[in-house]
Amino acid sequence: MQTVQDVPALRAAIRGWRSKGETVGFVPTMGNLHAGHQSLIKLARARTERVVASVFVNPTQFGPNEDFERYPRTLLQDQTALTDEGCDLLFAPEVATIYPFGADQSVSLRVPQITDTLEGAHRPTHFDGVATVVCKLFNLVQPDIAIFGQKDFQQLKVIERMVRDLSLPVKVMSAPTLRADDGLALSSRNQYLSAEERARAPLIHDTLNKMRDLVGKGHAWRAIEQMATARLLRAGFAPDYAVIRRAEDLAEPADGQNDGLIALIAARMGNTRLIDNLLFG
Ligand code: PAF
Repeated sequence: MQTVQDVPALRAAIRGWRSKGETVGFVPTMGNLHAGHQSLIKLARARTERVVASVFVNPTQFGPNEDFERYPRTLLQDQTALTDEGCDLLFAPEVATIYPFGADQSVSLRVPQITDTLEGAHRPTHFDGVATVVCKLFNLVQPDIAIFGQKDFQQLKVIERMVRDLSLPVKVMSAPTLRADDGLALSSRNQYLSAEERARAPLIHDTLNKMRDLVGKGHAWRAIEQMATARLLRAGFAPDYAVIRRAEDLAEPADGQNDGLIALIAARMGNTRLIDNLLFG
């Protein structure tokens, strides 16, 4: 696997493949790769002749008091993991390559409406940063397909909407969340948890399962949300939200709707903010 940091080297590699008619799949990441990321690379590998991954801890998607500085940076391990998965090229740019005028002077994209709720409501500039960097990366790599994990479900919806609205020539695909044996969704942020917090963290997935079961039994979604929030609080979490939404657009479901739904939770445990979701119906 080739690792490149600058744009001319990236473009030269991709031009070489394109000149032979080869298709390109792309997996953007912030690094510190785990089995969840590896499953995205596998999916790209199965769909396209060439696979590009990026590792870039994007400053514009972190709020002022978030974990940008301490976000785990493990490039050597990431290179090994990507090589093992058969990735062809790793793009690992510097901040100045992605933001030549500085991160705070960048053109910024705002995807309306779907970003007003949930993560967008709790992290007001987060999705502007995500949309901006993903659009920049799409312009640089110009992939045929790009693959994102369903764990960041709202992010996936934001990117789908941006791609459609800007007519970007890329097919957005997603892959299911990978979980530890006890149900905790794999995430680079899990390593912030103490042993005691890690032992309690699977309650998030367990609560999502309960929410799905209660919808199946015909309970009203507002009552289910209250139950889920109370359950998380009792277990020592500080929930930002525990909600049931329409999977299609994350709007509130109609009373009695029990298909095409998703349960989503964001909750803090100590200093760590965890998110997870479950599609059902
Ligand atoms: O999901 C992530 O890792 C990031 O939000 C992404 C899509 C790579 C943009 O920085």
